Amino acid sequence: MNNPLLVGDATRAPARVALVTCRDLPELEEDDRLLLAPLAERRVTAEPVIWDDTEADWAAYDLIVLRSPWDYFYRYDEFLTWIGRLPAGRVLNPADVVRWNTDKRYLRELADAGVPVVPTQWIGADDTFTPPAGEYVVKPAVSAGSKDTGRYGPADADLALAHVQRLQQAGRLVMVQPYLPAVDTYGETALLHFASPVDGRLAYSHAIRKGPMLAGPDTGTESLYVPEAITPRVPTEAEFELARQVLAAAPVNLLYARVDVIPGPDGSPVLVELELTEPSVFLAYADGAAERFADAIVARLRRD
Ligand SMILES: Nc1ncnc2c1ncn2[C@@H]1O[C@H](COP(=O)(O)OP(=O)(O)O)[C@@H](O)[C@H]1O
Ligand SMILES: [Mg+2]
Repeated sequence: MNNPLLVGDATRAPARVALVTCRDLPELEEDDRLLLAPLAERRVTAEPVIWDDTEADWAAYDLIVLRSPWDYFYRYDEFLTWIGRLPAGRVLNPADVVRWNTDKRYLRELADAGVPVVPTQWIGADDTFTPPAGEYVVKPAVSAGSKDTGRYGPADADLALAHVQRLQQAGRLVMVQPYLPAVDTYGETALLHFASPVDGRLAYSHAIRKGPMLAGPDTGTESLYVPEAITPRVPTEAEFELARQVLAAAPVNLLYARVDVIPGPDGSPVLVELELTEPSVFLAYADGAAERFADAIVARLRRD
């Protein structure tokens, strides 16, 4: 767009923001719709746009914010090509961050940087799988929404091997992790952060507790959708500290970040996932969260 952008100036056209979603959620997920009113109040017109809609006119938007393109991992190459072609500098989180963050190998880099990460064994195409002792999780390095993710015990070695081989045959890198049993009781904590309008750096907004997601082995068939059990949560000081450590080691120039942690064997939190691509942000669970996200978007529009 050639027009100078003046958000909040009643004499100018409102800024246009695309909220990127997928075909299954053409009107966004319900929680993301909570962004629309605060954005409108800030003179920003936000529209859901389906990422693989060939009719979409991406150049028409001042900012493109990824929200729920949740089918991307089925067509991962196509998704990365798509995001790489968007108008440079107008997509958030940025395309290079998305490329890095959609492949959980980033966890290795964070572990190398000293972040406590859930211990992970990586199984490539030619590697053999030896079932670990105790309970464990098998999941692909590129996935979302607990898809193709299974939980196994000592009696399930055959099912686990079949799962690993299914992923290998599909050309997917496999991750094997100890099952963190605290997720069944204490749950998982997700700490949400949005860019501060003051300095553009990520600031903590709110947190939620998520109940356990894995019922048992993954059999490769279409599994029932596991509803997420979400409640508000106040993080512990150790969880705040871990989130700070993770974000200090993460890329810069972010609009949003979700840090997902579960207590490890000694009770202190470990990182399970750093979500910089398409996190649910649970705006309904904290007063002011939707306004903080909207303020972060407006600040970005003003800056660019
Ligand atoms: N090592 C683990 N121990 C216990 N639960 C796990 C473990 N890894 C994953 N899970 C469960 O599976 C869910 C999805 O796994 P996650 O690594 O967050 O991938 P994604 O959300 O990208 O599908 C988590 O929210 C958690 O409930
Ligand atoms: Mg997750």
